[in-house]
Amino acid sequence: MSYHFATRTAGLRSSAIRDLLKVTEMSDMLSLAGGLPTPDSFPLADLRREADRLLSEYGPRVVQYSATDGVVELRQWIADQYTSEFARPVAVEGEIIVTHGSQQALDLLAKVLIDPGDVVVSESPAYLGAVQALELFQPRFEVIPGDEHGMQVELLAERLAAGLRPRMVYVVPNFHNPSGATMSLARRRHLADLADQHDLLIVEDDPYGAIRFAGEPLPPIASFTDRVVYLSTFSKIVAPGFRVGWMIGPPEVMSWVARAKQAADLHTSSFAQFLLANVVQQPGWLDAQKARIVPMYRDRCVALADALEAALGDRISFHRPDGGMFLWTRFTDIPDTTALLQHALREGVAFVPGNAFTIDQVPDSKARFSYSTLSPAQLGAAVQRLARAVDAAS
Ligand SMILES: Cc1ncc(COP(=O)(O)O)c(C=O)c1O
Repeated sequence: MSYHFATRTAGLRSSAIRDLLKVTEMSDMLSLAGGLPTPDSFPLADLRREADRLLSEYGPRVVQYSATDGVVELRQWIADQYTSEFARPVAVEGEIIVTHGSQQALDLLAKVLIDPGDVVVSESPAYLGAVQALELFQPRFEVIPGDEHGMQVELLAERLAAGLRPRMVYVVPNFHNPSGATMSLARRRHLADLADQHDLLIVEDDPYGAIRFAGEPLPPIASFTDRVVYLSTFSKIVAPGFRVGWMIGPPEVMSWVARAKQAADLHTSSFAQFLLANVVQQPGWLDAQKARIVPMYRDRCVALADALEAALGDRISFHRPDGGMFLWTRFTDIPDTTALLQHALREGVAFVPGNAFTIDQVPDSKARFSYSTLSPAQLGAAVQRLARAVDAAS
């Protein structure tokens, strides 16, 4: 049987990571491929208690249809958080939309902003899920390389001066996926200035900002200009299965996004929103949760980085991230990490080759290692397997 598919599906790639996860789930593989939060970070007891209380005390309201923008209790909490982070008042009405994870925010923004052929600026390497969400709307990607201080905003400035007019500039400023990089304060300010000068819309995707285990927090780009749609999520700090995230942006943009969300799913799960709002609103809860989980990621990051240095020495290079879940590496004597992956899978360890995070997907010497789900001891064992694969591949 043959079916007809819309032209927009032509470039739609499958996520290399999801494909790889299928392999890793089938065996005793040690996987450095996925980026799932560690299950020990999920506050199950608090969630169970609050779920019970909500159902018995609030009753039907928590499972009824609710507003497209999100339930007011949660939007109020978001407004309070970001009024201090953005150093300006964030309104409960008009500026905030609760989404089905940040991933839905990317999809909705692409739907309302991008016509085929419109220019979207993205870092390289880039978060694969954003590329997938955006490419369905057939943009032309203008790729700006990143380094250990984030997107090289100076290069964007040059291209803007030469006439580039993007519909959106997509950045992940904190503990980037996959590069682990944090955008410097100077580049944040510079990008905000460029947005003001050239009427750009910046999409600041910040799922990992709360998982900082080194260095000082930096202000979001949204604190320097209004021309930002800021995205974040409960996925990394509470649990991803609720699929609750949020976006904060200019009311003109948000009103179109709200219509697109109505068409997509009416609203995000009422129960998940009430539950999360009631858990995170408890005085001191979020600080205690961060204090409990951030050291888990710090210890794992150190374990992986130390093991890689000990086992591979100058055959691998990387910058240690200040937070998040990913270590981005370059192999000095392996030009194609897709070939290395085949050896690694035979040794029982998985990772994601660097080209999976590029628009053109040309094989390269880079690789993303996630330290989020394995224990420090397992990370050490995974690196031993990787070292054998490197010997076999080079
Ligand atoms: C940079 C980035 N943005 C967005 C997402 C999607 O997060 P959510 O679970 O909120 O949809 C992820 C998930 O890994 C991510 O790494």
